Amino acid sequence: MAAPRSITRIIKSLQSTSRNACSDHHRRCRASWLPAVVLAKRYSSNAAAAIVAAAAASPSTEQTTTTSSSATSSSVIGKQVQTTSDLPLKTYNVTKADARPKLSEHHKITFDEKKTLVPWEEGKTSHFQHVWMRDHCQCSECFHPETKQRMLNTFAIPENIQPDTVEAEEEGMKIKYAGVLSNVVLFAKGKNDGHESFYAWEWLHLHSYNPRLERYISPQFKFWGSEIVEGPPEVRYEAVMESDAGVGEWTRKIRKYGFCYVNGVPVTPEATQELVERISHIKHTHYGGFWDFTSDLSKKDTAYTSLALGVHTDTTYFSDPAGLQLFHLLSHTDGSGGQSILVDGFRAAKIFREENPTAYRVLSNVRIPSHSSGNQDSSIQPYAPFPVFNHHPVNGELILVRWNNDDRATMDRWDDPADVERFYEAARAWNDVLKRRESEYWEQLVPGRPIILDNWRVLHGRAAFDGKRRLCGAYISRDDFMSRFVLSNSKREDVLKAL
Ligand SMILES: [Fe+2]
Ligand SMILES: [Zn+2]
Repeated sequence: MAAPRSITRIIKSLQSTSRNACSDHHRRCRASWLPAVVLAKRYSSNAAAAIVAAAAASPSTEQTTTTSSSATSSSVIGKQVQTTSDLPLKTYNVTKADARPKLSEHHKITFDEKKTLVPWEEGKTSHFQHVWMRDHCQCSECFHPETKQRMLNTFAIPENIQPDTVEAEEEGMKIKYAGVLSNVVLFAKGKNDGHESFYAWEWLHLHSYNPRLERYISPQFKFWGSEIVEGPPEVRYEAVMESDAGVGEWTRKIRKYGFCYVNGVPVTPEATQELVERISHIKHTHYGGFWDFTSDLSKKDTAYTSLALGVHTDTTYFSDPAGLQLFHLLSHTDGSGGQSILVDGFRAAKIFREENPTAYRVLSNVRIPSHSSGNQDSSIQPYAPFPVFNHHPVNGELILVRWNNDDRATMDRWDDPADVERFYEAARAWNDVLKRRESEYWEQLVPGRPIILDNWRVLHGRAAFDGKRRLCGAYISRDDFMSRFVLSNSKREDVLKAL
């Protein structure tokens, strides 16, 4: 490998202070920056199980933190163990940029045959391989300014691409690539290279991958139990309908608490549909789009009866379960009952994990087949069975609770018959946590005050009732919800920068 070449540097206001750790950038241990879970992914042959094991083994006070990298897989559930070979190594960008990253005063930007080294004031040096840099050029020829899509021909980048010059400018780094490096005709428009690329400092720092510099910030969930009855999250109908700031408050509360009421909604299906659509278009399912129903069993599901419903999440039988669900009780005549019950599934899972890590691991590994087949014309099944607790494949955080005992299909795939007892024992223990008085939040829905809940987190059910109830509501997919949540609470440019 050739010795690093010096390059021109024009450092202006980037170096507003002389504070510098002045550490040896180039000898910094590469592994030290890796989050524990990524280490587990890299060095364990059964990473997902290790993540789950780590989660189960580290009852931290933060619901979201996974700390142990030494946990090993002791998963036992044969065919139903989550497979890991296809797990991506990518960390994902739910991160916050530093106010303004600064270059080191004491070290120069250098490059060799393979990579450019960018030393930061904080004492770390980012290594960017040339092929990666060229592929991520942000100029308007390579990256469409409107559609935000890549336009360059990645596959024509020569393997030995190298910069001719690298310059530090006030706002970022300019790279001029060497001219003809191979006989390949480069990039769009049939030009040879010699391309000039520019990368803003903030962008480089945000996307530094070796080492990764941005800290992952866990979602700020507020866990709750039965005490939430004293002051459940709510927003005003007018605020949501009038402005995106109102939608921002609404989606923020849904994200934080897992549910939110809307007060003062006109008691009509039309107004309710308009309200839901402030977040996103509705997710159509085999129940239709926006639904408006009475307890007449028009759809062959217990939801359409007057029976009590134990707490559950909806659509466990979808590959991608519904993200949000809104209910609006329009009327209840000639009877009573039907109180709603909610349980914070993330809080319950945290308690369960702390009290019974073995059972938590079982329900994180056993894949439960599920289905919806009551209607003559459908038998909905996910592309694969999923466990109750589903964790992010990179950071190990719990992201989705799937739990509907009524929709479980026949569990007939066990490598070890002893796993059958293990599963029922774990399921019983989980059910006990859900049924604790302090887990349950009961409230009677009333006309004009619909509730919307995060179906990936919060379980819902209801008491039996008599008389006639009319409810309307809808599902929204999780991706559509998160898109609206992010864009109604952050500047679009910041969201795009992190892509
Ligand atoms: Fe339901
Ligand atoms: Zn470009």
